[in-house]
Amino acid sequence: MPGVSTPALGLPYPTLQTPAPSAGKTLVVYGASSSVGSMTTQIAAATGINVIAIAGAQNHDLVKRCGAAQVFDHKDSSVVENVINAATASQSEFVGIFDAISTPETYARDLAILEKLGGGHLACVHPPPADNVPSNVKTGMIFAVNDIATPVYRDFVTPALQSGKLKCLPPPTVVGKGLEHVNDALKKSKAGVSATKLVVEL
Ligand SMILES: NC(=O)c1ccc[n+]([C@@H]2O[C@H](COP(=O)([O-])OP(=O)(O)OC[C@H]3O[C@@H](n4cnc5c(N)ncnc54)[C@H](OP(=O)(O)O)[C@@H]3O)[C@@H](O)[C@H]2O)c1
Repeated sequence: MPGVSTPALGLPYPTLQTPAPSAGKTLVVYGASSSVGSMTTQIAAATGINVIAIAGAQNHDLVKRCGAAQVFDHKDSSVVENVINAATASQSEFVGIFDAISTPETYARDLAILEKLGGGHLACVHPPPADNVPSNVKTGMIFAVNDIATPVYRDFVTPALQSGKLKCLPPPTVVGKGLEHVNDALKKSKAGVSATKLVVEL
């Protein structure tokens, strides 16, 4: 997509091999129970990355099923400290944070984690923070369609779905069948969901 810069985290491509050989790297996924975050966690785990995830306590089992090695509760006031300690103890190279929520609250925590761990990448799903970004932190917004996505879809997503390595998570909630249910689905989405994908069947 011309004009849209995609921050490359310098990570390997996912493999169909199970388990994936260790990449010797650690990535933090913030919001790992969201639709974007759970897919990011699965794909990162399939590259052999050590994933440290942040999600609501009720969704930790799901996030572990996605391949996260450790999960911490975003409602826990010690979450920043917990993530820093886990990344330090992993003894693998910390590459950065994929923030699937990307709000001022999560950015403040991201930057605190990155500062303590010596900098790295901050990949965001919305425009990245404009202020207080240390010089050793590289920020950028991921857009769904980019040069990296095409080979991942072609060489990994399709065969991984066929083999069951890649799971359709979070599980769907079917709002209804027919276009007349779209408004209801949008209202539910606006109200907020937890670890589910809203679906309108046609
Ligand atoms: N850039 C792009 O190309 C692109 C593409 C798609 C989506 N997006 C954006 O990406 C974001 C995620 O979309 P989605 O469809 O994946 O969202 P979603 O599934 O609707 O997100 C719901 C999840 O967000 C989690 N959450 C909410 N507030 C949180 C917080 N403060 N800390 C940690 N987790 C929190 C909840 O976790 P718990 O229930 O576990 O607490 C819940 O499971 C949206 O803002 C969307 O607009 C961007």
